[in-house]
Amino acid sequence: MSTKVRIVEVGPRDGLQNESGLVPAEAKIAFIDALSRSGLTEIEATAFVSPKAVQQMADGVEVMQGITRLPGIRYHALVPNERGLERAIEARTDVAALFTSATEAFCQANIRCSIDESFERFAPVVAGAKAAGMAVRGYLSVAFVCPFSGDVPADDAARVAERLYHLGSDDLCLADTVGRAHPEQITALLSRLSGVIPIEHLSLHVHDTDGHALDNIDAALELGVRAFDGATGGLGGCPFAPGAPGNVATERVVEHLHRRGYETGIDPIKLSAAFEIVRPYVAARA
Ligand code: COA
Ligand code: ZN
Repeated sequence: MSTKVRIVEVGPRDGLQNESGLVPAEAKIAFIDALSRSGLTEIEATAFVSPKAVQQMADGVEVMQGITRLPGIRYHALVPNERGLERAIEARTDVAALFTSATEAFCQANIRCSIDESFERFAPVVAGAKAAGMAVRGYLSVAFVCPFSGDVPADDAARVAERLYHLGSDDLCLADTVGRAHPEQITALLSRLSGVIPIEHLSLHVHDTDGHALDNIDAALELGVRAFDGATGGLGGCPFAPGAPGNVATERVVEHLHRRGYETGIDPIKLSAAFEIVRPYVAARA
């Protein structure tokens, strides 16, 4: 099995969206540009969501138009609906990330609709994104544990994951949004999905609330997953998920993978240097 691992850096979006103090667009641009020089090949740069829902991401188009794109790097952005897609096209987004939830309660809190309605909303977004030449990433939020409904049965999560994959996701990302999943839950869901979704189309997004992030990554590696999200500096959290602190730090994931003999092509020292650019704005955490 391959030792090459793909990392999706989500710090500029999942990380910064949760900061209460506004981070200026120039700082976001400098952060993304520094991340682009670390060896990363995928960076989730912003979200074209409603500014009323997430004020911190209101400057998405300005940020995307301000960055220096390096060849070989795909810049992702969250796209919740057709309005978001228009902005994503204007900003020349490479990967449109759509997101729904494994539970009804989180879906309502996050995107203010039912799971079924989210799929109705997504159908034209997927078609439009593909027509515009974008790849599509499907995020399944709270795939293991929901802050409102507790542990999510693997069968329930698998059902929504399959649906999201068949809608046209090139990459299906299973998210432990609140960072409370155990390795057994990772194994259970991945086992249900194996044979249905090709493993190279699956990725894992973990937070580190309970300190299981690296164990959860190891559980997924064991089953052949070779794509993981991280946020440099351990930035992050979800404003709609009470008690969700930072993502697992990308530099920790990279060091962990390298120690275990996997290759990422990323220099963790350059990631730490990039984090210094936003540290003044997130001083309370760092
Ligand atoms: N970009 C910019 N503005 C948008 C927008 C988008 N993608 N989508 C909606 N809006 C605006 C609408 O124009 C409307 O503005 P108005 O009140 O001035 O007319 C307002 O937001 C509400 O729009 P509506 O379509 O009624 O959406 P909603 O209130 O049902 O919210 C979402 C649905 C999905 C747009 C919103 O909940 C959202 O953006 N959620 C994202 C949450 C998120 O980013 N979570 C973290 C990631 S896991
Ligand atoms: Zn997250």
